[in-house]
Amino acid sequence: MSNKFYITTPIYYVNARPHIGHSYTTIACDAIARRHRGLGDDTWFLTGTDEHGQKIERAAAAAQTSPQKFADNVSAEFRALWDRMGITYDDYIRTTSERHKSGVQALWRRLRDNGYIYKGSYTGQYCVFDEMYVEVGPGEPCPECGRPTETIKEENYFFKLSAFAEPLIELYTSQPDFIRPETRRNEVIAFVKSGLRDQSISRSTFSWGILVPDDPKHVIYVWFDALANYATALGYGSSDDSKFKKFWPADVHMIGKEIVRFHCVYWPAFLMAARLPLPKSIVAHGWLLFEENKMSKSRGNIVRSETILDVLGADALRYFLLREVVFGQDGSFSFDALVQRYNSDLANGLGNLASRTLAMITRYFKAEVPYPSHTAAHTPEEDLVAALAKHTIKEFHELFEQHQFSRALELAWALVAAVDKYIVENEPWALAEQQDENSRARLATVLYTSAEALRIVTALAYPVIPQAAAKIWSQLGLGDLTTFSLADLHWGQLKLGTRLGKVEPVFPRADKSTIERMQQMEEKNRAGAAASATIAEGAKGTAATASQAQAVEGRTPSSPASVEGRAPSPVHSPDAKIAIDDFAKVELRVAQVKVAERVKGADKLLRLEVDLGTETRQILAGIAEAYTPETLIGRKIVIVANLAPRKLRGLESNGMLLAASLEGGKPVLAGFLEDVPVGARLK
Ligand code: ME8
Ligand code: MG
Repeated sequence: MSNKFYITTPIYYVNARPHIGHSYTTIACDAIARRHRGLGDDTWFLTGTDEHGQKIERAAAAAQTSPQKFADNVSAEFRALWDRMGITYDDYIRTTSERHKSGVQALWRRLRDNGYIYKGSYTGQYCVFDEMYVEVGPGEPCPECGRPTETIKEENYFFKLSAFAEPLIELYTSQPDFIRPETRRNEVIAFVKSGLRDQSISRSTFSWGILVPDDPKHVIYVWFDALANYATALGYGSSDDSKFKKFWPADVHMIGKEIVRFHCVYWPAFLMAARLPLPKSIVAHGWLLFEENKMSKSRGNIVRSETILDVLGADALRYFLLREVVFGQDGSFSFDALVQRYNSDLANGLGNLASRTLAMITRYFKAEVPYPSHTAAHTPEEDLVAALAKHTIKEFHELFEQHQFSRALELAWALVAAVDKYIVENEPWALAEQQDENSRARLATVLYTSAEALRIVTALAYPVIPQAAAKIWSQLGLGDLTTFSLADLHWGQLKLGTRLGKVEPVFPRADKSTIERMQQMEEKNRAGAAASATIAEGAKGTAATASQAQAVEGRTPSSPASVEGRAPSPVHSPDAKIAIDDFAKVELRVAQVKVAERVKGADKLLRLEVDLGTETRQILAGIAEAYTPETLIGRKIVIVANLAPRKLRGLESNGMLLAASLEGGKPVLAGFLEDVPVGARLK
């Protein structure tokens, strides 16, 4: 009997482009959805984009376009990336779509009619980055992300969250699986026990949102709007709610750990107030880190999925993320680790097992699966492989159910290693040289056993590496893997005489230069994005100030304004002070531009040669959209003179120049009103 299974990703903000952090969640959901389909479940997999709110409105303003156009572009980018990555979402919800808007308004009305919404006014701090009301004093930073908060004083509608403290605790207690993993559950329980205040759920000082029914001066708070997507996408509140009836409640809302509170406190409270069934589980994973920090668009330390797709393919990225990161914990990304995993597990592991096994069957048995002997040529070794395979199938499913992807894959790859060893020890190539009947029977047995184990690993790994698994499956002569019933997978299904397909390598080995190639692609991209990085900064809504004067170079520098989340970070929070000695480490000097020219193929970059008095330096700067080269010649600028050199577009940049970053505008170079000598130090 088939069960229904409904899984969702968060809907991603469209204020910046996708990176592998978003891919991570989406890949995990895709693997889960594929496995459920393979098990015969009636599966629905939803993803989409979160397009309203002040953050998006400001990002669009900074890019000098309308919020809708801005959202259209970025949303399309997410979608195109998912398509390229083989993400099998069944629906893609955009919060600016009519179906969503009317569904959100229907939910609002229901809460209102049930008596859970009242009008009041809010005076307090708001963090636009997190789109969150925060309980700190004016001038104090956001406790979540450390960015400056803004004081808002506006008429709002409130949701009676305080009425739900007890029912929520009851929920967490009676349904221990509601929040996974346990650490997140404990945090939420502590938060709710510390007391819940009513929550403002509308805004009235900007307009980019869904209108409050019957009071269009207000727009609905973006998190109310966003969370409702999980229901509106199924047709909640519309004339056709058959999908909602069929798939709601969600079986899994997969999220990153920073948005647990919204999903585990607000969302179930909204649903309780609407008297709707609650999701079965909220599963929160950790963060992907890059160079020790949470990978985030605002910090500028992102890695794009596209680079990895171009060089190693989607399966490599999918496998790496699910194998390398212990689900629930933070995990570091590096190109070195990616290539190492790719080579050891995919090229030399599964790929090699597939090609050697299939090549030998092709060669020694005319590409037909041979008959294993059950008599003389059968040894306890075959029993061991079969037993291990059976154990692997059972455990793999259990681990996957618990979202222990890394352990599940480790287990499946232990079978790969065991079969490799079995092949080496039994030397089929040597058996093939013997003409006697027993050697022939033994050869058939060894190759059958290897091929059958290969088939089992391939079927299990399919949700994680769908493209490669489908190729191996068809090379095994088994046809279309997507129609195979994973629930029936067992040892011995491989039929004698199965005709192999054409044998081709699935994971070509990656050499050392692969790492460098990918790094260069990312550098190039960051260089190209240099000027547009100021857009993301501008989106935080503060005009340029001296403290935010931004270095315009190849990447968004770590500045106080770009701390996201609470990951351990060498970056200071805005209220932390640095010692004079720290400042003294930065060598700021006056330099004069001698040569300025565009860099071929990089719209935003200029190559400058600047005179420092004692020497001439080459510096690359992402200011081509703000300054034409001619206007810069002779101009005195400020540079960080002791910055380690780095390469952009294959050119070395020796230092970086300073400029203010303006909301909605182009960078403005730092300079002096009085004349200053070249080489003078700023201190
Ligand atoms: O929070 N590591 O959108 P968002 C792991 N619109 N996962 C990461 C990650 C990283 N470094 N960076 C992003 C929002 N993610 C809201 C959600 S839902 C009703 C509204 C993933 O664009 C992770 O799943 O900031 C995280 O929760 C999500 O992207 C946040 O995406
Ligand atoms: Mg975020």
